Amino acid sequence: MEILSSTKNMLLMMMMSAMMWNMAKSDLIYVGGSKGSGWVLGNNLTNWSLNQHFHLNDWLYFGYEKDKRYFNVLEVNKTSYENCIDAGFIKNVTGGAGRDVFQLTNKKTYYFISGGGYCWQGLKVAIHVKDSVAPAPAPKSHKSGASALDASNIYHSLMVLILILLCTNFLG
Ligand SMILES: *[C@@H]1O[C@H](CO)[C@@H](O)[C@H](O)[C@H]1NC(C)=O
Ligand SMILES: *[C@@H]1O[C@H](CO)[C@@H](O)[C@H](O)[C@H]1NC(C)=O
Ligand SMILES: *[C@@H]1O[C@H](CO)[C@@H](O)[C@H](O)[C@H]1NC(C)=O
Ligand SMILES: *[C@@H]1O[C@H](CO)[C@@H](O)[C@H](O)[C@H]1NC(C)=O
Repeated sequence: MEILSSTKNMLLMMMMSAMMWNMAKSDLIYVGGSKGSGWVLGNNLTNWSLNQHFHLNDWLYFGYEKDKRYFNVLEVNKTSYENCIDAGFIKNVTGGAGRDVFQLTNKKTYYFISGGGYCWQGLKVAIHVKDSVAPAPAPKSHKSGASALDASNIYHSLMVLILILLCTNFLG
């Protein structure tokens, strides 16, 4: 009986560790390299994107608080991206606060544009998602304009806490 329950606990812990590892792998990437105003005119987002690495499960953060009345964030297909067509978009990412997030859940190229004609002025970006980071404990290279996901860190801490609770419960 006791052995069975300890095995169960071990399994649970292993699952938790796997989850923590997964969470730790996703980055929050500020589009355009700035949290407050990266999704703005005058920022060469094409060039920015070319110099970035996007991995599976990473989050994009579109920051444009000062211009939230003007810009929005729409996921579109390649054709619409190239021709700045905002009708018939795939997803409206816009929340209203000028702080929009989007998770890259597929290994493909995502296309985002702003409506309101701003796409024509360069407010658009293509994001090429590569595989998730190899599960080797390589030192995390700090990309410019990217930072560890704060929310993920909180989640991480929470998981550790749960683990500790589980362990004490198991031992006590
Ligand atoms: C593109 O980005 C690189 C690296 O961030 C920078 O050195 C370069 O000047 C940029 N080029 C253009 C055309 O914006
Ligand atoms: C933006 O960067 C791309 C890629 O580096 C470059 O080809 C293009 O000329 C740049 N556009 C402007 C307006 O600087
Ligand atoms: C892209 O989206 C536009 C707008 O919804 C649509 O008219 C077009 O057929 C789509 N193109 C492809 C290749 O899916
Ligand atoms: C996108 O969603 C926001 C928030 O719900 C809404 O205010 C806005 O009108 C929507 N934009 C489009 C183009 O549908």
